[in-house]
Amino acid sequence: MTPDEQKKAAATAAIEHIPVGCIIGVGTGSTANYFIDELAKIKHKIDGAVASSDTTAKRLKSHNIEVLDLNNIDDLPVYVDGADEITEHLHMTKGGGGALTREKIVAAVARKFICIADQTKLVKMLGNFPLPIEVIPMARSYVAREIALLGGQPALRQNFVTDNGNVILDVHSLQILNPIEMEEKLNQITGIVTNGLFAHRAADVLLLGSDNDVRTITLQ
Ligand code: A5P
Repeated sequence: MTPDEQKKAAATAAIEHIPVGCIIGVGTGSTANYFIDELAKIKHKIDGAVASSDTTAKRLKSHNIEVLDLNNIDDLPVYVDGADEITEHLHMTKGGGGALTREKIVAAVARKFICIADQTKLVKMLGNFPLPIEVIPMARSYVAREIALLGGQPALRQNFVTDNGNVILDVHSLQILNPIEMEEKLNQITGIVTNGLFAHRAADVLLLGSDNDVRTITLQ
């Protein structure tokens, strides 16, 4: 299977994990788009969705899937989303599409995070993919200097504003030996809204499209 076919296969496999009569958290990106298209086929079995970005909300609505406000929901059984990188410990880098803040919020509320990905996303160590960090615009230079002290090389994502009106620094060359520790350190820097490490709230299940099938990986 090509990477795109692997994404679609993983998205299709995720449908089997969707409980009947519930609200579903939906991620952002090309893999999540495949999932939305599959979810549309069983929309009569769900009560609606919470979107992790304006783009996802638009796609859900285009399929006539009701999009609900997270503030009006007290139980979210499942969140399904892609990743830019994921390890066998199910720690992830996310935010390639710039939606990391809302993704992290929806993931925090969800009881179960199902990551769907093609096999190129599975890595031994996070950091090859530049780590996206959403920053309050006036803090951009300060945050960039602080990240340089941690050994990263931040680059402002050009011509990009997040759904929350902020900017993204893509951090290159960051050694992420301990994702939980690095996520905590970045959380301490004033002006950062969200960093793209999903280690504290890792995935619970990885559905990984591979050459011939979809592998299910969970923590032992
Ligand atoms: C969006 O902001 C990201 O977190 C995506 O989930 C991630 O970039 C994966 O995207 P693809 O499914 O397009 O590879």
